[in-house]
Amino acid sequence: MPTLLPIDDASIARAAALLREGKLVAFPTETVYGLGGDATNGRAIAAIYEAKGRPAFNPLIIHVAETGALDALIEWSDTAQILASKLWPGPMTLVLPRKKDSPVSLLASAGLETLAVRIPSNPHAQMLLRATGLPIAAPSANASGKLSPTTPEHVAESLGDKVDLILAGGQSRIGIESTVINLAAPEPTILRPGGVTKEQLEKILGRKVATVEADASPDAPSSPGMLASHYAPHLPVRLNAVTVADTEAFLAFGSDVSVAGGAARLNLSPQGDLNEAAANLFSMLRELDKPVYSCIAVAPIPDTGLGAAINDRLKRAAI
Ligand code: TXA
Ligand code: MG
Repeated sequence: MPTLLPIDDASIARAAALLREGKLVAFPTETVYGLGGDATNGRAIAAIYEAKGRPAFNPLIIHVAETGALDALIEWSDTAQILASKLWPGPMTLVLPRKKDSPVSLLASAGLETLAVRIPSNPHAQMLLRATGLPIAAPSANASGKLSPTTPEHVAESLGDKVDLILAGGQSRIGIESTVINLAAPEPTILRPGGVTKEQLEKILGRKVATVEADASPDAPSSPGMLASHYAPHLPVRLNAVTVADTEAFLAFGSDVSVAGGAARLNLSPQGDLNEAAANLFSMLRELDKPVYSCIAVAPIPDTGLGAAINDRLKRAAI
């Protein structure tokens, strides 16, 4: 089993030393746990792809502690400055043109001319990034295509000994990944709905923001990571369930208890709160993902605010 350590000055120092040696450290962020490696070290990046079983055409997000650390990595634009000042640190990733002499390994950005960057707000992530002083590449700390981890135990279950150290910082506050926004295109475009909502972005920018549809072009996704099937439990997933069979596990939402039946049931948010539902999504899917059930049936979820990100993940889980 991998080493799990509670977070304090000593474990952060140990994690930073491991990262400097090119080792992999899983750490908490406000969205999901990340599998971190030194973004400037090609061997560490190769180890991340290997540990996740991730296709090498799917680029990684580079994490830093503060905006100043991005000057060497990417080309800023006015829109990027505005979004950065309003929403960082936080659950937003910006895809920007990569600086010619950026020290980030080409493997981390899968040979693209752009780089995805993010400044997480989680205080433990901030401590780690400051302690290393390095740009840290960190995909979600799960096997490729599977459910993202929102607790240190999920990371241990999913990656086992493939990670050198897991910093255990409790449950992720938001529970769903960052919103990925392409600013290297003529118009800002959401490539992956996430913790920052489209409504928030449109308010800040004062205009409509487009979203790339989940199934728009499954063979040539504009964000290489937006493969149609992803975030998949082992069981089949059935969406918008208004009836439940006796063999199915039911994932409910809201106070409506009119849907009866099911061999097990959990509720993403009895109050119908989308933030609470996002925080519970991956852990409840894991909990219901047991071979004794035939399927996970999921109640309809409103498509506004964080609901858009929840429905995006559910759609991919159901393919
Ligand atoms: O919340 C998060 O974003 C978490 C935490 C750990 O920060 N990280 C995360 O990373 O979700 P990952 O690797 O699971 O997802 C990264 C997404 C993928 O869909 C990938 O294709 C996309 O970002 N991406 C990365 N670099 C890109 C680029 N240059 N252009 C377009 N999409 C990119
Ligand atoms: Mg992921």
